Amino acid sequence: MAVWEPRELRRLSYSADMNAHTDQQRFRPDPSPVTKAVVPAAGLGTRFLPATKATPKEMLPIVDKPAIQYVVEEAVDADLTDVLMITGRNKRSIEDHFDRAHELEEALEAKGDEERLRSVREPNDLAQVHYVRQGQPRGLGHAVLCAESHVGDNPFAVLLGDDLIESADLLRRMIEVRNDRGGSVVALMEVDPEQVSLYGCAAVEPTEEEDVVTVTDLVEKPTPEQAPSRWAIIGRYVCDPEIFPVLHKTPPGRGGEIQLTDALLEMARRKPEDGGVVYGVLFRGRRYDTGNKADYIRTLLDFALRRPDLADELLPWLRDFVSRHDTR
Ligand code: UTP
Repeated sequence: MAVWEPRELRRLSYSADMNAHTDQQRFRPDPSPVTKAVVPAAGLGTRFLPATKATPKEMLPIVDKPAIQYVVEEAVDADLTDVLMITGRNKRSIEDHFDRAHELEEALEAKGDEERLRSVREPNDLAQVHYVRQGQPRGLGHAVLCAESHVGDNPFAVLLGDDLIESADLLRRMIEVRNDRGGSVVALMEVDPEQVSLYGCAAVEPTEEEDVVTVTDLVEKPTPEQAPSRWAIIGRYVCDPEIFPVLHKTPPGRGGEIQLTDALLEMARRKPEDGGVVYGVLFRGRRYDTGNKADYIRTLLDFALRRPDLADELLPWLRDFVSRHDTR
C-alpha cells in the first residue's frame, strides 16, 4: 500500500543544500511510490477527421486492438494497475471497451469460442480503470489537472492515449529515476531538425547516468532555429504532485490551450524543495503517434507484420505492391 506523507514532511527528505539542482546524492528517495497512471483521451482528434467525428482516435484499431488498450497494457507492465482515463464527449466507446460485454460474451460462450471470449474479456481484466470527464478539451495540461482529486498527493505517470511505445522499459526506467531522484521525469526522443516544430523540445544538461539528463528549458513546438536541442518530449511523463498547483496557475499558451509543457517548464525553474527539478530519460526505442495519419499507417503495418498469422499473408503482397509502385 502507498505510504502517504504530507507534502511538508516529504520536502524534508532533501538535505540542506537545496540549490543543488542536478546532484541526485542530495535527494533521499521519496517514500510515496508511483502507483497510478493517468491516460488523457479527451482531445478532439482533429488531425484524423472525419474518422474521429464520432469515434475517439484512441479507439482506432491497430490491427485488432484499439490503440488505448496497448497504452493500458504498458501501464500494467510497469506495475501501474490503477488507471484513470480522462475522457470527454464521444468517448463512451472507451468506457464500453474496458467494461464487460455480457451479450457478446454469452454468444461466444455458447459457440465455445474460447479464444475470442478471452480477447473480449481481456481489457476488462487488465487494470482497475477509473474515468473522469474533461468538460471541454482545454489542453493536455487541463486534462492532467482533471486527475487531481484521484491522484491526490502522490507522484503519478501520464501516458498519452494515442502514443504507443514499444515496451514498458521506458516507463519503468522513468519511475525508477523518479524514485531515486524525486522531481518529475519526461521521456525524450531525438528527432530530425525539420520535425522539432511538432514537439516540445528540451534544453538538457547531462547527469552521471548516461540515459538521464536534467531539463533546464522547454520550448513548445519551436522552429528549427528556436529549438534548444533535438530532444523532443514524447507521450510519457512521471509528475510530482506539485504539478497541480502549478497547472492551476498556468495560463492558456500555444493554441489557446493549457499546456503541460508550460507547467513542466515552471517546475524545472523551481528549487527542489518546491517540487522542482525535471529530469529527462533519453529514449532510443520505437514510438508511434497514432493520432497522425502517416504514423498511424506505419504503426498498423509494423504491428501487423510482427504477427506471424498476418505476416505470412501480408509480406508477399507488400513486396509485390512496393515493386509495382516503384516501377510506376
Ligand atoms: P493531442 O494534441 O495529440 O490530441 O493530445 P488532440 O488535440 O486530440 O489532437 P489533434 O491535434 O486535434 O488531432 C495528446 C493526448 O492528450 C489528450 C488527447 O486525447 C491525446 O491522447 N488530450 C488533449 C486531452 O485529453 N485533452 C485535451 O484537451 C487535449
